[in-house]
Amino acid sequence: MSTIRHLTNIKDLTDLEFQTLVFKAQEFKKTFKEGNAEDFAANNKKLLGRTGALLFSKRSTRTRISNEGALSFFGCKPMFLGKDDIQLGVNESFYDSIKVISSMTSCIMARVNKNSEIQELVKHSSVPIINCLCDMYHPLQAICDLLTILEKYGVDNLKNLTLCWIGDANNVINDLMFACLKFGISVKIATPSDIKMDETLAKEAAELAKKNGCVFECNHDAKYSATGSDILVTDTFISMGEEWQKTAKLKQFEGFQINDEIAALAKPDYTFMHCLPRHTEEVSDSVFYDEKHSIVFQEAENRLYAAMATLDVFVNNKGDFNK
Ligand code: CP
Ligand code: NVA
Repeated sequence: MSTIRHLTNIKDLTDLEFQTLVFKAQEFKKTFKEGNAEDFAANNKKLLGRTGALLFSKRSTRTRISNEGALSFFGCKPMFLGKDDIQLGVNESFYDSIKVISSMTSCIMARVNKNSEIQELVKHSSVPIINCLCDMYHPLQAICDLLTILEKYGVDNLKNLTLCWIGDANNVINDLMFACLKFGISVKIATPSDIKMDETLAKEAAELAKKNGCVFECNHDAKYSATGSDILVTDTFISMGEEWQKTAKLKQFEGFQINDEIAALAKPDYTFMHCLPRHTEEVSDSVFYDEKHSIVFQEAENRLYAAMATLDVFVNNKGDFNK
């Protein structure tokens, strides 16, 4: 049986493992910002002469840039394999592709459609798999988001916070909720009445909240959830691959835009976050570009440090969180 550690989602990490990734990301950022990055990189070419595959079947700005940057930081050549670049899915089976790609690279960073594809990769790959988004999870985003929250509030204040999610019930929140709960941050989720969180995940999240002494709540009332919250978060209402459902989904999400009216219900010093890419239907310009509250571009930049921390643990240190 393989002993390789893969990053498939946040819930399957222990609280301590997840916290380690976030603190490591914070350290990488400090190194970069303090101007020691070149020295640090010179001493950390742990993957020099090797290649990291980015197997992406969907578009990306942040995930591609941050992962290519992080691989380069460790001396590893990023190899971007988009859906039109290789034989995968057209002329070659997924199994054959995984065997071949993993035989020639040090890791596979995969953006795929289904979580089952991530599971297939994990089953057959001889190198670590980093889930770069599937329908169920987006773990790199959650590491970055907790780094951003940590920077904003400080480690000692996290347990008093409530994060309010107003949006869809899929990849980003499925990891973000476990990420928050692992730091003792309460989570209130509002989805439209006909969109429900995955029952198994919600049950597991409720148990984790109980263990860590915080609150986990799912409802269908955006105003109720926003009330008194510290952090407001949303994501696109039309995820990649759902474009054909646009009209129906926009109707489902009526009343769920985070705008001045919703923001006024949160704490006066609330913070707004969004993984990007962003559209006006889920958040108004007035909230998104409000520099007093919105930290969306700091959040986007933090994807780089989340990628560095992830590669360091899963590839450089072969899944050893104590190194
Ligand atoms: N947040 C995020 O994953 O952005 P990209 O789709 O641009 O990678
Ligand atoms: N839920 C979005 C996240 C994009 C980063 C999507 O899957 O398209």
